[in-house]
Amino acid sequence: MDNQAMPREQLGVCAEGNLHSVYLMFNANEGGESQLRPCIANVAQYIYELTDQYADSAFNGFVAIGANYWDSLYPSARPTALKPFPAMNADTRDAPALEYDLFVQIRCDRFDILHLVANEVCQMFEGLVELIEEERGFRFMDNRDLTGFVDGTENPKGRNRQEVALVGIEDEAFKGGSYVHVQKFAHNLSKWNRLPQKKQEDIVGRTKLDNIEYASEDKPLTSHIKRVNLKDADGKSMEILRQSMPYGTVKEQGLMFISTCRNSVNFEHMLKSMVHGDGHGNHDHLLHFTQALTGSSFFAPSLDFLENQAG
Ligand code: HEM
Repeated sequence: MDNQAMPREQLGVCAEGNLHSVYLMFNANEGGESQLRPCIANVAQYIYELTDQYADSAFNGFVAIGANYWDSLYPSARPTALKPFPAMNADTRDAPALEYDLFVQIRCDRFDILHLVANEVCQMFEGLVELIEEERGFRFMDNRDLTGFVDGTENPKGRNRQEVALVGIEDEAFKGGSYVHVQKFAHNLSKWNRLPQKKQEDIVGRTKLDNIEYASEDKPLTSHIKRVNLKDADGKSMEILRQSMPYGTVKEQGLMFISTCRNSVNFEHMLKSMVHGDGHGNHDHLLHFTQALTGSSFFAPSLDFLENQAG
């Protein structure tokens, strides 16, 4: 890992899983950028300090800036790979874009602390932004998605999380930052639950109860893990760090899918492989049972970047 003089990352980018989460999506009021820059630095620093204060409850979080808002807020420099959400569609499989100016993710094993901090963050931003969307995530069973399958098993582990999620020397000015993609997926659970378990397992590419990966030759080309397990031109695995959590109520529920990565192409290639498939008609059959309602692209800069730009 190229961590010589690595700026301080926002700790929520690579954090391990939690019991609860709050997601806040804001749009900025026009013309407030000079006040918003120091305010964002303060919010990020506040979240950073709470990580120590509430260490027993594994508090963490980050602030990220929307791809379409970046140039208004920080006109002098832009992360090289920052692009709007790669909206795509094929037949009934839709991955729409719905962008926001700011995204705050906070997570903790105590929901009361999250509620308190969410209120505090909104107060800090008061007058400068409008809260457009709020969602709350929770751990379901033993880290399962609401489909009943364990989610996050093949995520990068240990220090490899930083290696996968944080920009390194390839973009010196943005070292320690991360490209963040968010999609809110609403599941059709009554349709899913009518499927026999073996059919569900074929769609995911793993067994349900004991979470065992199918042997390579048994994985259908339409299974989720087949579609997202990709290699680049040099044969190297394309990885992302998933920070997803189930969300919702009985009326609408699903997965807040969140990817953090040192580039933006890995996520885009995976999504393309899910929606458009492999060019031989094999798309991701998970998409028959869930629908992306949003798609947003952000960059979560290092704390040092935010501080340097605050003045
Ligand atoms: C793996 C669920 C969307 C990328 C998995 C696994 C599950 C799952 C159950 C297997 C266990 C694991 O390794 O975590 C879901 C659900 C989704 C969703 C329910 C949406 C409703 C996405 C999207 C992407 C993605 C949009 C990327 C664009 C991955 C990757 C893996 C994975 C990279 C690991 C594959 C491997 O190396 O085996 N997902 N996922 N997922 N998913 Fe998803």
